Amino acid sequence: MNAHQRLQKLTAILSQGGYHDGNTLGQVLGISRAAVWKYIQKLEDYGVSVDATKGQGYRLAKPLIMLEQAQLNEALAHHHLNLEVVETISSTNTYLKQLSLDNTQIRLIMAEMQTAGRGRLGRTWHSPFGENLYFSLAYPFKKELSQLAGLSLVVSLALIEALNTAFELSHPVFQVKWPNDILVKGAKLAGTLIEIMAESNSYCQVIIGIGINVNMEEAPSKTIQQPFTSLWHITQSYQDRNKLIPIIIDQLVSDIKQFTHEGLSSFMSRWKRYDYLNNREIKVSLGNQVLKGTCRGISPDGQLCLEDERGKINLCPAGDSQLVK
Ligand code: BTN
Repeated sequence: MNAHQRLQKLTAILSQGGYHDGNTLGQVLGISRAAVWKYIQKLEDYGVSVDATKGQGYRLAKPLIMLEQAQLNEALAHHHLNLEVVETISSTNTYLKQLSLDNTQIRLIMAEMQTAGRGRLGRTWHSPFGENLYFSLAYPFKKELSQLAGLSLVVSLALIEALNTAFELSHPVFQVKWPNDILVKGAKLAGTLIEIMAESNSYCQVIIGIGINVNMEEAPSKTIQQPFTSLWHITQSYQDRNKLIPIIIDQLVSDIKQFTHEGLSSFMSRWKRYDYLNNREIKVSLGNQVLKGTCRGISPDGQLCLEDERGKINLCPAGDSQLVK
């Protein structure tokens, strides 16, 4: 067992609940009591709350099932992708951007925590250890950049479809806010950060970074400035991320393939079904410019359609959308 596997085993034991004493933990992990304490310290350094009580042992404040690379590799084997799971990283997007990617294979990196997780428009993405999903795919497209307009919308729709499959909720709760926020009752559940890499060997590498709030119960208001939610809040139960990932990746890959062959047009009815902004009064910020109007869905190339007071439709290619209260 290497250090990472020991940490996984330790958190799995502690996740059963109750106190576990250092001696017994040491025996199971094949290490000394002092070494167990070092692993506990590592968890605390990662920001995990561990209760250590003399005479009783260690207890986790809440369950923590870590990502299992072997289990995920098996579940995703049919995609022939290159999967990497790391404990900590600055940002999974930044990591993939720094590699020279001339691969024709899909590359997927997932992290237990990000120390500099990035959101859209220069925002930070709160990424506490073991709580949520933070992952990025490097996806090679045999396409021109201009043909990729709409990809971020497709990614959001794929996430919604995957969550619907995973939770079989009696009524649909997941919605998409153009261009790529996943909301539940107006609170943010997930976001996507897409970064396009230079083209090489007739391929266009795209980094698709996805953050989904899974087990996070609360977050510091300093880092998250808008109402947020998590799957824990929605289902009231702890979610094993290892079970969600294969469903999400299957849906993503399948929808991206459909987008590659058929374009955005084949996703229009799905967009209408989940569109949070449709027929609502909104404003869209684009740099210093703010456009206001009634949202009338999206154009065939994924731009937001905004109807002004004279009934004219204006198209927004990008920006940050908000309801006008
Ligand atoms: C947003 O809604 O602003 C986009 C959030 C994207 C967050 C994910 S987490 C994994 C990947 N790595 C990052 O640094 N950002 C994306």
